[in-house]
Amino acid sequence: MPRMTFIDPDGTRHEVEAPVGDTVLDIAHANDIDIEGACEGSLSCSTCHVVVNLEDYERLAEPSEDEEDMLDLAFCLTKTSRLGCQIVMCEELDGLTVTLPADIHNFLLDD
Ligand code: FES
Repeated sequence: MPRMTFIDPDGTRHEVEAPVGDTVLDIAHANDIDIEGACEGSLSCSTCHVVVNLEDYERLAEPSEDEEDMLDLAFCLTKTSRLGCQIVMCEELDGLTVTLPADIHNFLLDD
């Protein structure tokens, strides 16, 4: 089974199993990783924001326009930011590493 690594804002690493077909958000929740995912993957929040390792970012499918629009609302946005609910695990993504941003913006609650 592919594996992936989550890095907390404080640098703590969590290497976990990453079942093919699960999203990064699903995998985070299955392993008690602190990613909120307020809209449960329906692309109407940005609380599943993750920062993807540069080499891994280039292996991902392009983000959709809807994902890009939602990312624009995320705090701590970087050039390799993605929404965790939109990254679907496959064998080719074995070794994927993502970092959790230091802050998130849940505009469903914050505004
Ligand atoms: Fe809301 Fe990903 S969980 S956009």
